[in-house]
Amino acid sequence: MEGSKSFVPTEDQILFTGVPRFAPPAAVDAAVSRSGWEDVFGDASTPPTVLIVDGAEVDRRLLRAMFKTTPYRFLEASRPSEAVALLGREKIDMVMLELMLPEMSGLDLCRKIKSERNTQYIPTLIVTSLHGAEHEVAGLSSGADEFLTRPLHPAVVRARVRAMLRNKATIDSLEEAEAILFALAQTVEQRDRYTGGHCQRLAAYSLSMGLALGLSQPELLALHRGAYLHDIGKIAIPDAILFKNSSLDTSEWSVMRQHPVRGEEICRPMKSLLPVLPVIRSHHERWDGTGYPDGLSGDHIPLLARILQIVDIYDALTTARPYKLAKTHADSLRIIQEETDRGWRDPELVSLFQEISASLCSFAPQPHPEWPEECSTHVSLENMQRELLK
Ligand SMILES: [Fe+2]
Repeated sequence: MEGSKSFVPTEDQILFTGVPRFAPPAAVDAAVSRSGWEDVFGDASTPPTVLIVDGAEVDRRLLRAMFKTTPYRFLEASRPSEAVALLGREKIDMVMLELMLPEMSGLDLCRKIKSERNTQYIPTLIVTSLHGAEHEVAGLSSGADEFLTRPLHPAVVRARVRAMLRNKATIDSLEEAEAILFALAQTVEQRDRYTGGHCQRLAAYSLSMGLALGLSQPELLALHRGAYLHDIGKIAIPDAILFKNSSLDTSEWSVMRQHPVRGEEICRPMKSLLPVLPVIRSHHERWDGTGYPDGLSGDHIPLLARILQIVDIYDALTTARPYKLAKTHADSLRIIQEETDRGWRDPELVSLFQEISASLCSFAPQPHPEWPEECSTHVSLENMQRELLK
């Protein structure tokens, strides 16, 4: 571990492809109230947009003519560069492309569409005059979802496009569901006015730890999402217990201790959140096996959960609550070390956290009395959040 190295994530590192979309309440309202189209979500209030990429104008016109009676909105590109520009500018629900294109082949364009986060889920249909199994194999291998050869039967093209757009609407609904879940997690946090900004700070602290450990981008993404979602199970805990200002009795504690399992249950149906489930379930385990809900110990506790646990404790200690004042940075580190000596925390991770914690001041919501003034000139929490919201 390098003591002098800064592990504060740069904006580039924070903005790696895949940072979860955070949905403010207004966006959630919009997502909930927005209907989809056709028979998937009801009326076609927002007709899907189909991009046709073909160098021959006559072929583009023929394709459009097949959809005269449908409500679809069509955009056209005669060159891949035009298509890429449209994909970056417009909300495209499906792409139909010819294999023979100027500038780059249809196969390369398809690979590009399928390799970029913003476009990877856009269904792509290759419509080509090139016959032969080798072209179909190459097209599907490039990531295309369907392959049709000319001459085209209009009814078959319409049926294929309709099926692909239906899949796209399902994918869109899953993304919206994910956004709603993140907003729900924010709501859980906002209900407790004493812990404002907790999830955002955890996300920043966790990324710092993850970067220091050289974790992969999927692991960093899981950490980031875990920071927001780890306590989402608290939504199932009665307010009388969650916001009790005095100590919880035995039965209340047993209810409170259900929140990791309830959180896992809430997030489990979402395939994209599978890597986050161990963080949610195991963030209250202890290194010596005395934690909950499973009593895991040592390396059996998922690494990401061990990381989140340490930064979670640090933030809880340095934040004021109704029943306690905020601890100083130094006092908080000392308490975490005491808990580690008692056998509760992963000693190597705690050591790393102590090493890099000086860098974490750049994510503090307010200047901390023990942190030097120049810390406030680093990228602020607000800036980071603004970037994530883009
Ligand atoms: Fe928790």
